[in-house]
Amino acid sequence: MMNKLNAPLNEAEIRQAVAVVRRDAGLDPGAWFETISLDESGRYPAERGAYVCCYEATSNRTLTGVVVFDSDSLHDWQHIEGAQARIVPDEFMMACELARVHPGFLQALAKRGLDDASRVLIESWSAGNFGNPEEQNRRIAYGHCWLMNDAGDNPYARPIGNLHPVFDLATREIIRIDDFGVVPIPPDPGPIRRLEQRDDLTEIEITQPDGPSFEVDGYQVKWHDWELQVGFAQRDGLVLYDIGIRDQGRLRPLMKRASMAEMVVPYGDPRAANFRRNAFDTGEYGIGVSLDSLTLGCDCLGHIHYFDIWTHDWQGEPQLIKNAVCMHEEDYGILWKYSAPSAGQTTVTRSRRLVVSSIATIGNYVYGFFWYFYLDGTIGVEVKATGIPFPSALENGQASAYGRQIGDGVESHVHQHVFSFRFDMALDGEHNSVSEMNFRAAETGPDSPYGNAIHCEETRFQTESQAQREVDARQSRYWRVLNPNVHNKFGEPVAYKLLPGANSYPLQQPDSSMGQRAAFMYKHLWVTAHNPDELYPAGWFPNQHAGGDGLPQWTTADRDIDNQHIVVWHTVNYHHWPRPEDWPVQPTVYAGFHWMADGFFDENPTMDMPRR
Ligand code: CO
Repeated sequence: MMNKLNAPLNEAEIRQAVAVVRRDAGLDPGAWFETISLDESGRYPAERGAYVCCYEATSNRTLTGVVVFDSDSLHDWQHIEGAQARIVPDEFMMACELARVHPGFLQALAKRGLDDASRVLIESWSAGNFGNPEEQNRRIAYGHCWLMNDAGDNPYARPIGNLHPVFDLATREIIRIDDFGVVPIPPDPGPIRRLEQRDDLTEIEITQPDGPSFEVDGYQVKWHDWELQVGFAQRDGLVLYDIGIRDQGRLRPLMKRASMAEMVVPYGDPRAANFRRNAFDTGEYGIGVSLDSLTLGCDCLGHIHYFDIWTHDWQGEPQLIKNAVCMHEEDYGILWKYSAPSAGQTTVTRSRRLVVSSIATIGNYVYGFFWYFYLDGTIGVEVKATGIPFPSALENGQASAYGRQIGDGVESHVHQHVFSFRFDMALDGEHNSVSEMNFRAAETGPDSPYGNAIHCEETRFQTESQAQREVDARQSRYWRVLNPNVHNKFGEPVAYKLLPGANSYPLQQPDSSMGQRAAFMYKHLWVTAHNPDELYPAGWFPNQHAGGDGLPQWTTADRDIDNQHIVVWHTVNYHHWPRPEDWPVQPTVYAGFHWMADGFFDENPTMDMPRR
């Protein structure tokens, strides 16, 4: 099952991709590299290649193509009309430096009693698209400002309210300064971590004296009955390929590709420029390029295998992220237990899971993406959100209607973290279907004389338009991916269920800018016919996009999804009304869901586990 074609790009391949584009694309020498990532278009099925996206500032053009390594050639090089490439980290730094020497910006700082611009942090967020004529057809970023903490470790504690330099990142200029009036700058709270630290907890060590149970060959992983391949995309970050599970010695495929394909964080404050606070963290900035280098004993505990990842800067220079992906085993309590008091017997088995994870730092927030593989065939998908909630300075000494005071002089506004996970399914083969399960209570009457009757309704989706669905706890709703061509010992099609976790509904109006640009968020489930070009639910270029791209557009074709090669998309919405306890750093909150075998096996697949 090992597929070398899906391994992450290495340093030499990134250098080759840059050289070929510089040689053959006819770009201005100052053009920058937004993305150099494994080509997954499927157009060069037997060859390894790199998808390359460049931004040429002199012509304000975003261009893409594929470099095929063996033939050292560039293919499909094209200008994407109207698209703006993602904002790369180097542009963040460039904009910050631009502002620090801009006379108008310095005047605005002076109005606030600030005379040292080197102590001001300016982040150039995507401007979105609110129809402002001055911002159309340009590479616009919208600045947010903070006065740096004296302790140097919490740059977000002192927001400079109502001050927003607006950048054209292509021409490297500030096109205007939006100043909505002076707001008091919150006091300096000092260092994030208290200087006095307690010592009453004893150390926990996790050891595996015989070593880990997994085997690693390059990026290919075998653990217990599981097989999978660790992969990477500049944009998605961690990608898992060819996930399968052994059943009585036979490898049974489940998914060809799984990743977190987009996340969007819309904020709920309409005042001044605060309506601009929205982020497509994947499509506008990129998760892969923002991965942390993880530290043993801090980020990860136990017997760890780390995968290093090569990424690149805007000049195309390769950059290594050491320890970008962490893999280890965790004890997970009891797998199953039964006590038979009459026989004086107890049988119990411990559970464990394989954890594959990475952590991205994007501005103020930190997101961990954790994939769990369990002994019974369950796959857990979990986002761990920590970091610093986006703060605003209090305007009149108290919180606005849209936020809550979380610290001295600061409030944080209501917002939602919406994640879209994409699963290229292959349950026991390439042809799968999806059904919805709803459980209904019968009214008390002849069919339910005791008022307790529950019946199950399973509805199989035929086309894409039928499979745009929302969670519904009242009907204990979940979805099943099944293979109608393979049956278990009871004659049912083999299946996995997608069991939603805690979830929420988007509150942005569907006709709003964010509602249109992130329209995928209005459905918790989408099912599409497989197309390797359809990787991102808000489209390939959400930066400044007016909306309508991605899932809503693709599914207008209303393709057949029954007994086809399908892709399942699951939306997880974490609604965040910030708490004082989220300040100065938010304890990790968790959001996720599970895939569980549901008639995929003929019985509990762990009955041969040893008693320990
Ligand atoms: Co939040």
